Amino acid sequence: MTATVVATRPIEGQKPGTSGLRKKTAVFREPGYLENYVQAVIDGVGGVAGREIVVGGDGRFFNDTAIGVILRMLAANGAAKAIVGQGGMLSTPAASNLIRTRRAFGGFVLSASHNPGGEDGDFGLKFNVANGGPAPEPITDAIFARTRTIDAYRIVQDAAPPLSSVGTASLAGLAVEVVDPVADYVAMMERLVDFGRIRALFASGFRLRFDAMNAVTGPYAKAILEDRLGAPRGTVVNAVPLPDFGGGHPDPNPVYAAPLYALMGSGDAPDMGAASDGDGDRNIVLGRSLPVSPSDSLAVLAANLHLAKGYAGGLKGIARSMPTSRAADRVAAKLGVPLYETPTGWKFFGNLLDAGRATICGEESAGTGSDHVREKDGLWAVLVWLDIVAARGLSVADIVRDHWRGFGRDYYTRHDYEAIDTAAGDALMVALREAIPTLPGRGAAGLTVTQADDFAYTDPTDGSVSNRQGVRVMFDNGARAVFRLSGTGTEGATLRVYLETFEPDLARHHLDPQHALAPVIAAADQLAGIAERTGRAGPDVIT
Ligand code: G1P
Ligand code: ZN
Repeated sequence: MTATVVATRPIEGQKPGTSGLRKKTAVFREPGYLENYVQAVIDGVGGVAGREIVVGGDGRFFNDTAIGVILRMLAANGAAKAIVGQGGMLSTPAASNLIRTRRAFGGFVLSASHNPGGEDGDFGLKFNVANGGPAPEPITDAIFARTRTIDAYRIVQDAAPPLSSVGTASLAGLAVEVVDPVADYVAMMERLVDFGRIRALFASGFRLRFDAMNAVTGPYAKAILEDRLGAPRGTVVNAVPLPDFGGGHPDPNPVYAAPLYALMGSGDAPDMGAASDGDGDRNIVLGRSLPVSPSDSLAVLAANLHLAKGYAGGLKGIARSMPTSRAADRVAAKLGVPLYETPTGWKFFGNLLDAGRATICGEESAGTGSDHVREKDGLWAVLVWLDIVAARGLSVADIVRDHWRGFGRDYYTRHDYEAIDTAAGDALMVALREAIPTLPGRGAAGLTVTQADDFAYTDPTDGSVSNRQGVRVMFDNGARAVFRLSGTGTEGATLRVYLETFEPDLARHHLDPQHALAPVIAAADQLAGIAERTGRAGPDVIT
């Protein structure tokens, strides 16, 4: 036995309630930090002896080093097999799929999602369980508790095998199987959307620009869109994953994917634009001069999903996170299927998907997915959009406008105040929560509050309750403002303010969202004292 037990001391682990650990890369590189966290995970999930574990990440700086450590620790902890993406690469949805198809015990997913990478950027690590989804709260609680008490980790001294080519090697008794990260994922997509129909769409001259943002989706998008579906070479841009994502934030929002937004607003726009994030679970879809808000995207996908090959049987239900707009609710009502409103974060969808209660889920933060995996899936959403475009013979923008004609338009925006003073962020939320009972009847910026609460969720599958998930304020014109602090930021606090208003009047469907939402934006600022408490004149990011 070559395992070495290394004495160590407790670390600052993950925040309770979050499904993984995200920190500055420098923190993960502190001596013993990664090792302690990995051992806390292994202990928190009840050990890995004899288990098969999937390992892969988004290729950011430190990905390969961290995977080497994880493999050496899996060996020392008696795991039977590690299934690793070639080059250490696996998109988050592909990892979820691999865990499920291989019936693995779980998987280590290395990513800080849309956060920047590099020596000065962010790194992250989470554990997904056998259903392919992020570990549920009892397990993350156990992992967190272990980070507080950990006193030793186990590691073998042998070097981890290279991950550059597909095949199986042995590491001190651990079988290390290096797999093609793309193949299984392509096969799954082929079952869900009609490749023939989308190939015909491209053959007819349809033009797409897919911005992979130098993150993990590049090889997946090239393999499917260009190699299998016949989209012209160059359809996928920034297709090569880079350890620092080319210096950008791999976040497909209007700030960090600005070139794509500019192109789609220009006279030279292709028929459709799309992008995904660092680890490939987020997506954005843009029509000509019409970025599709993620909330609308969820609603449109839900309303048309039966047209996609793998969903011809229809939907069991729709799930959305609470801050996501209510556009999906209108679709669920029309289809006569249940609508589930969950707290922010994908893990709440997992139970609904496992129980067969929902088929499609989505979040306003550019996440959409279905029961095919237990993570959101960026490229899947783009492919389903393409399948719907091909089936309906309408442009992206026309499909969206047709949707608004039928259901009305839910104007939507999210305002983020990033890296604000943590105490100021906490104080704002405390004051807002204390004010909840006094808000109904209060006027602000010409609107009157009708209801206010702090969102609580009871999981219909297991009865577990999650409290304090965000303050919701309803106004007399049907508008809504939601306030919560980010659980994924790595610097100070990030205040998210989610704003929406429903517009049934067709004649007012052409407005700029910031304009249509101006009254509720002003009311939200007044009620929460945002400018005053954060010292910021306006949000840092508007999506
Ligand atoms: C953010 C998004 C949330 C998403 C999460 C993980 O969390 O808002 O919808 O599930 O990233 O991708 P937050 O920073 O708001 O806690
Ligand atoms: Zn992501």
